[in-house]
This record gives sequence, C-alpha cells and structure tokens, in this order.
Amino acid sequence: MATIHPSADFRSDTVTWPTPAMVEAMATAEVGDDVYGEDPTVNELESLAASLLGKAAGLFVTSGTQGNLIAALTHAQRGDEAILGEDAHTFCWEAGGIAVLGSITTRPLPTDSRGRMDVDRIKASLRVDNPHLPHSRLILLENSSGGNNGAAIEPSYFESIGALAKQHDLAVHLDGARLFNAATALRLDPTMITAHVDSVSVCLSKGLCAPVGSVLVGSEAFIHQARRHRKLLGGGMRQAGVLAAAGIIALKTMSQRLQIDHDNAQTLAQGLATIPGIAIDPSVVETNMVFFDLAPEVAIAPEELIKALRTDYGLYMGGYGDRTLRAVTHYWIEQPQVERLVEAIRTILTGAA
Ligand SMILES: Cc1ncc(COP(=O)(O)O)c(C=O)c1O
Repeated sequence: MATIHPSADFRSDTVTWPTPAMVEAMATAEVGDDVYGEDPTVNELESLAASLLGKAAGLFVTSGTQGNLIAALTHAQRGDEAILGEDAHTFCWEAGGIAVLGSITTRPLPTDSRGRMDVDRIKASLRVDNPHLPHSRLILLENSSGGNNGAAIEPSYFESIGALAKQHDLAVHLDGARLFNAATALRLDPTMITAHVDSVSVCLSKGLCAPVGSVLVGSEAFIHQARRHRKLLGGGMRQAGVLAAAGIIALKTMSQRLQIDHDNAQTLAQGLATIPGIAIDPSVVETNMVFFDLAPEVAIAPEELIKALRTDYGLYMGGYGDRTLRAVTHYWIEQPQVERLVEAIRTILTGAA
C-alpha cells in the first residue's frame, strides 16, 4: 500500500508523523537502559510530564491504552469495580483490557452530549459493603471526550468527582489522551483539571506528533507500583530515549500550538455547514474533531463518500457509525487542505444529488 502523507489524512490525529525537530532530536538523543532507570532522556521526559501535570512522578509508557490499563491495574484489585462513561475510550476501545487482564469489573454509566456522567448517578452507583457485590474502587474519566465531538470538559466536573471520590475512598484516573487539546480550548493550565484526579495519562503520539508513547503521572507510590505493572505488561523498554526525545518536544512545543488545529477544525465545520445535505452544528466543535451526519435525503452512503474522497482527491476521512463521518485536524493539516476537503465533499455530494 502506498504511504499516506498526513497532510492528506483527516482520519485521526494518530496519523501524525514526527516533526523535523523531533527527527533531529531522536537522531541525537542520549540513551541508556531505561529498565535500569538509566536513560537520561526518558528520565527527563518523565520529570517534565510530572511537573507540567502537577504530579510527583511520571512513567513513559508505550501507548494511551497501556497507560490507562496500567493505571487501572495500579489503583484497583481483582474483583474491584470501575465506574466509567458508557462511551469512554477505556470502556469501548481498549479491548476490555481492564476486565481481561485486571479482573476489574466495569460499571458503565450514561453520559451527556459532552461526555460527562451525572455526579449524583455516580454516587448512587457506589456499592455498599455486601459480600454479594463488587467493591467500588475506581472512577475513570476522559478529557477531551473523543466520543463526544472532542468536548473540552471544564475543571468543575473533575472537582465534583474528585470530592466524591475522596469521601468514598475511591481513586480517579483521567484518560487525558488529548488533555492539552482540552486545556487549550478552555484556555487554562492543565493542572486546573489534573489537581482533582489521582493519575493522568497523556498521549504524546496524537496531536502532539511524537511517533510513539504516552506518559502516565501520579504520586511517587503510584508510579512505583505502575512501573512494576508496565514491566508485567511487556512495556519495559530499553534505549527508549530515542522515543522520549520526541516526547519532550511534544510536551514543550507541540502542546502550545493546538489552537491552530482547533481553528482549522472550526473552519472545516463552518465550511461543511454550507453544504446542502450535511447536518452539523459548528458550535459543538471545541477542539480538533469534527463529526457530521449525512442527511437521510443524501443519495450517497458514507462509505461511498469516503471512497470518492480517497480515489478522486487523495483525501482520507473516517466513518463513525451509520450516517456519521469524522474529520480530525492536526499539525500536518493546514488551512488550504481544509478548504480542499470542504470543496471536494461539496462536489461529490452535488454530483450524487
Ligand atoms: C480518548 C482516547 N484514549 C486513549 C486512546 C488510546 O491511545 P493509543 O492508541 O495510544 O493506545 C485513544 C486513542 O485514540 C483515545 O482517543
């Protein structure tokens, strides 16, 4: 299959390639054996992540999925229960890892249109001490909320849940795969959110463009135990400084430019809104994700639109359920490509009318 250049690829921000500065830093990174704790570049990345996210310690992990899984294994024991949103990535898209590998049961709760569970509903779901019941132990949250237009959820939500969790001796983990997108959209420092949770994992490899990896942060004791779980899961890497060098640039530099992606997403949403047959409300686009529907009267199916974009225009976009499509903006997508995508979709839909 031919290489797909990320400047033509709206399927996700996971398709991003490392930036030229990252490639340079990777080529010259100082390395050591990280399982011995001797890779200076990994150590620098872990301290940087911990300090930017307001926690005592950090751990470089292979992926967002691994970061969330390690967090769950570290906070909860076999037979404990985790409360999470029914559309959360941890529930829907991580192969059931916390149940499969952690024997942790899940209690999915409904979410609103921005991915928030109702705090009273969480409270009502807490188990009483009864030998028939699992033990409520963990609440898993997500920000931005990928399944809900990438909504950037405000700190007060995390504050309420953090307070509830403290009262009931529960741990709270935040899947912050795109936490910097949320913080950018809310125009606040990410610590305003992370202050209310025990642990956070942040993906370096999505909008932040590193080729591989996530960072998990929390207390010293949590990260000490998480390091053991990373090893257990086969995530102990050796001269990983080659990857961490890109991660440092992701955190220092790339986290500061995400408003450009959000502006491009808004331009895309507004352009799509002018095309007859497309249903979209640009006001729900807060970060870099644009979801839209093909109206029932549109003769073409989403798969056909995706195929025509690919074959006739060399542009890539993803389907997301029955009549819904998704386009995601990122570092490699610039304004002219956004305009090209809008005009390509307009032409295809007009031809199909
Ligand atoms: C919200 C969210 N959490 C976690 C992940 C998992 O990240 P990874 O693909 O690095 O395992 C993703 C991946 O797209 C995601 O969107």
